[in-house]
Amino acid sequence: MSTPRTAYRAAIFYSLADPSEVGLDASYAYFDDGLLVVDDGRITAVGPATELLPTLAPDTEVVTYTDALITPGFIDTHIHFPQTGMIGSYGEQLLDWLETYTFPCERQFADKAHADEVAKRFLGELLRNGTTTALVFGSVHPESVDALFEEAERLDLRLIAGKVMMDRNAPDYLTDTADSSYRDSKALIERWHGKGRLHYAVTPRFAPTSTPEQLAAAGRLLEEHPGVYLHTHLSENLKEIDWVKALYPERNGYLDVYDHYRLLGERSVFAHGVHLCDAECQRLAETGSAVAFCPTSNLFLGSGLFNLPQAERFGVRVGLGTDVGAGTSFSLLATLNEAYKVMQLQDVRLHPFKSLYLATLGGARALRLEERIGSLAPGHDADFVVLDYKATPLLDYRLQQSRSIEETLFVLTTLGDDRVVRETYAAGRCVHRR
Ligand code: GUN
Ligand code: ZN
Repeated sequence: MSTPRTAYRAAIFYSLADPSEVGLDASYAYFDDGLLVVDDGRITAVGPATELLPTLAPDTEVVTYTDALITPGFIDTHIHFPQTGMIGSYGEQLLDWLETYTFPCERQFADKAHADEVAKRFLGELLRNGTTTALVFGSVHPESVDALFEEAERLDLRLIAGKVMMDRNAPDYLTDTADSSYRDSKALIERWHGKGRLHYAVTPRFAPTSTPEQLAAAGRLLEEHPGVYLHTHLSENLKEIDWVKALYPERNGYLDVYDHYRLLGERSVFAHGVHLCDAECQRLAETGSAVAFCPTSNLFLGSGLFNLPQAERFGVRVGLGTDVGAGTSFSLLATLNEAYKVMQLQDVRLHPFKSLYLATLGGARALRLEERIGSLAPGHDADFVVLDYKATPLLDYRLQQSRSIEETLFVLTTLGDDRVVRETYAAGRCVHRR
């Protein structure tokens, strides 16, 4: 899908590195009158408009935005597509919430027509919120993943997804078997992994809903298909952790269950990790595994406060997840608003440069996609968003008082949501215009 050469003129901000590793000053690039040049779906140049404009090929179209900021598209490292219709379900913590709301909702995805309809709505919602890449749970039904990938392929999105593997401790209508989950996942990998910008994630729901045989099958899939991802949940809720101990008494804790079945690695992403000990952080880091920090979900389900400084002390890669439908917003800006508060409750300050890093380059690094996404440096996929400083009267008024890009970013993450996203581009094509 080739697109004409276009240059986008606006304020531009993107992360260069993790502020925790290089310090705030070396962690970003900012051009208050910037130009982003895109050719055939890739970024070819970025910098001050006055420097780059004279270098453009004569046929380049220049699109100018006022009162706008261009950043990389946001990256959601943990979300459930079949839970779109149950976001905001009242009154339960994790295990009861799964029984009461989640399983009945996911049951509907046995119907491909339903999955097709929700896939369109789900991806539309991601793009409205400026999210251009996500790591996505399907349902147990392989058709749900076909539906999602078919729509993502049509939109030419970089997306990672997988079919849930779940063969115990769930209703009969929603369970597979170790064998069928292996065969269905393998067929999906062969059909979708590496097609366009799509990637497959082997997706056991969490340790309590898989037998040892099924976790072994997941490990076999990873071994037989280098380059595919592993996506699951880990240490989200205290009752869940006790349950895992009871189900796997021979293992040395929750992470060790996954470790035993060879599920840790450079493309393994574990959602939550709210209650990790130092040894578990150490093991995640040494295997190159990543954790998805999901603040709105952790608050909504009363799961606890993610300890970002602890994860960082050990060098664990951390991305940001919405975890819809336990999470309460598709917006990574709104998610950063809650992340800031989760840190405040632990007397830690989440700097706006760090926030933007987590939602972009940090997510890309957690997914091992930093060569392709999460940055506006030349060579990257042209996945970016145009944020509107005047999206609401209050935002407009507040930003008139801003004296720096860091203040502006902080206000955008504190007040912002889908209304702030004026346009979203994927592979150089406009895929959402507000
Ligand atoms: N643990 C197992 N399944 C789920 C799920 O669907 N959502 C969340 N937040 N945690 C889980
Ligand atoms: Zn989840």
